[in-house]
Amino acid sequence: MNKLTDCQVKKIGDICASFNNDPGELINVLHKAQGEFGYLPEEVQREVAKNLGVPVAKVYGVVTFYSFFTMTPKGKHAISVCMGTACYVRDAEKVVDAVKDELGIGVGEVTADGKFSLDCLRCVGACGLAPVMLIGEKVYGRVTPGQVKEILATYE
Ligand code: FES
Repeated sequence: MNKLTDCQVKKIGDICASFNNDPGELINVLHKAQGEFGYLPEEVQREVAKNLGVPVAKVYGVVTFYSFFTMTPKGKHAISVCMGTACYVRDAEKVVDAVKDELGIGVGEVTADGKFSLDCLRCVGACGLAPVMLIGEKVYGRVTPGQVKEILATYE
């Protein structure tokens, strides 16, 4: 996203207004904005800051502090591999490598066709299924690197 369209500017204005442009609602505003745009690029953060009358640095600080906010766009199917301890010791890293090889992207990147993105997460609370991979809302447990190709193929 480079320059926001008038429509996007208006959308952000509406979101902020729905919280009475209250700076104390910054996190809620960002949640809603991320729901709308899928991610929070700099341009969106700047617009939120303007509407709420807070410094851009403050918005940036919040976005980078909370792991549920992201500044990078996600693919249509967002792949997240858990890197919590239980998953890590069960070779989650090899699962990440298998996804990287299969899609030709790194962590935090999106495929050129916008279909998949890859991210790592902290414990998602399904340690008994380690290693865990999520695609969108769907949870895959006890994933082996060898299964990755097959799983991704179901999203073609
Ligand atoms: S460490 Fe991966 S689900 Fe808990």
